[in-house]
Amino acid sequence: MTSLETERLRLRQFREADLDQYAAIVAEPETMTFMGGPRDRARAWMDIAWCLGHWTLRGYGLWAAEEKTSGRLVGRIGLLNPEGWPGLEVGWLVARSHWGRGLATEGGRASLAYAFGTVGAEHVISLIRPDNAASIRVAEKLGETRERETELFGAPALVYGTACAAAESAELGSDSI
Ligand SMILES: CC(C)(COP(=O)(O)OP(=O)(O)OC[C@H]1O[C@@H](n2cnc3c(N)ncnc32)[C@H](O)[C@@H]1OP(=O)(O)O)[C@@H](O)C(=O)NCCC(=O)NCCS
Repeated sequence: MTSLETERLRLRQFREADLDQYAAIVAEPETMTFMGGPRDRARAWMDIAWCLGHWTLRGYGLWAAEEKTSGRLVGRIGLLNPEGWPGLEVGWLVARSHWGRGLATEGGRASLAYAFGTVGAEHVISLIRPDNAASIRVAEKLGETRERETELFGAPALVYGTACAAAESAELGSDSI
């Protein structure tokens, strides 16, 4: 299972020792506003198991995002495409304490480059709730554009997306891995 490094992040596999920090991140109500609400410790453990299982089954997945300078877990960033999903998604979730520093964009850029360069994807999407302005902004900064609307777990979601050629012309990843 691959790890990546960006300027400030180590994108690596989750481990069980991440549980305390990950559970604290997903227990924070504001962070989870657009992700179904805060999650308890047991659900956080299942998230970690889900991320690792996705890697095993698909050969790619979400990474634990660790801040290189502190070694602290600051979120989860990477790729997901579980059964029934509308496409290969690049996704991001950053600890509330670390918002606004460009970390989701930095990790998302490396993830997109991995999707196109290593996984061999031709098109990548991001599924975003219409009111999640920060996430829409991250998608736009990565060169994704709004493609259509869909429904996710019974609620509206926007599909942002980009094709490999568009990402290459934006020179995604050239300075990030
Ligand atoms: C969405 C999220 C990952 C962004 O993480 P981040 O590391 O703060 O993102 P970045 O700093 O790379 O970029 C955020 C951008 O959104 C902008 N932004 C933040 N809040 C905003 C708001 N309310 N309205 C409009 N833009 C906003 C920032 O200004 C920044 O854009 P800029 O660089 O042009 O100034 C983070 O807010 C988060 O984890 N949210 C909860 C989980 C979540 O909703 N994940 C996405 C599910 S689709």
